[in-house]
Amino acid sequence: MLIKNIEFIKSSNSIVECPKDKLPEFAFLGRSNVGKSSLINMIVNNKKLSKTSSKPGKTRLINHFKVDKKFYLVDLPGYGWAKASKADRKKWDHMVKEYVTKSNVIVVLFILIDIRLKPQDIDISFLNYYGKKNIPINIIFTKCDKINSQNINKNIDTFFNELSKSWSEPPEYFVTSSIKKTGKNDITGHIESIYSSFKNYEKNL
Ligand code: GTP
Ligand code: MG
Repeated sequence: MLIKNIEFIKSSNSIVECPKDKLPEFAFLGRSNVGKSSLINMIVNNKKLSKTSSKPGKTRLINHFKVDKKFYLVDLPGYGWAKASKADRKKWDHMVKEYVTKSNVIVVLFILIDIRLKPQDIDISFLNYYGKKNIPINIIFTKCDKINSQNINKNIDTFFNELSKSWSEPPEYFVTSSIKKTGKNDITGHIESIYSSFKNYEKNL
C-alpha cells in the first residue's frame, strides 16, 4: 500500500468529539508502552506523526489520522499503566471502551501484545471483553527485534495456548518491530484488503 497523504485530524476526549465523516477506522489498542504510536508511525513512514515515549502513558486521547482521505488510523491511550491514578485509569478505560463499542465505523481493532512477555491477564481480559462484543479483532505482537526467532515462536505458542481457554477460533495475528520495520508490508497489505472489501460491501448496499 502506497500512502500518499496522512493528516492528523484531531484528538478527542470522548466518542462524541470523534470525526463524523463515517470513514472506516483501523484502531490500535494495547498496554501502555507496548508500541501503538510507534507502529502507526512505521505504517505511515513518519517517525514524528504520533508522539511516542520511552515512558508509559504518552497517548491520553483518541487520535484520528486520516490516510489518503479514505480511512482513519486511530491511536488510543494504553491500558494498565501502573503509575497512573486509579481515577485516570478508569477515565481512559471508559473513554476507549465507549469509543470502541459504540463506534460503528471500526473495521478492525488491532490489539497489540509485547512479544517478550508471558501472557498477561490484562491483555487476555481486554481481548475477551472486545471479542465477546463481536468487535473484529486482530493481534499484533510488537518489539520482535528484542528476542530471537526461537523465542518469538515459543512465546506466540504460549500466548495462543492461553487464549484458547476463552477463544475457539483465535484472531489473525502479525509479528512486528517498529525499529526494524518487520511486518510493515503484511499490515499495510491487510489494511488495504480490508478497506477494499469494505468499499465493495458499501457499493452493494
Ligand atoms: P502509550 O502511548 O504510553 O500507551 O504507549 P505506546 O503503546 O504508544 O508506545 P510507544 O509507541 O510510545 O512506544 C513505547 C516505547 O517502546 C518507546 O520507547 C519506543 O521507542 C519503544 N518501541 C516501540 N516499538 C518498538 C519496537 O518494535 N522495538 C523496540 N525495540 N522498541 C519499540
Ligand atoms: Mg502512544
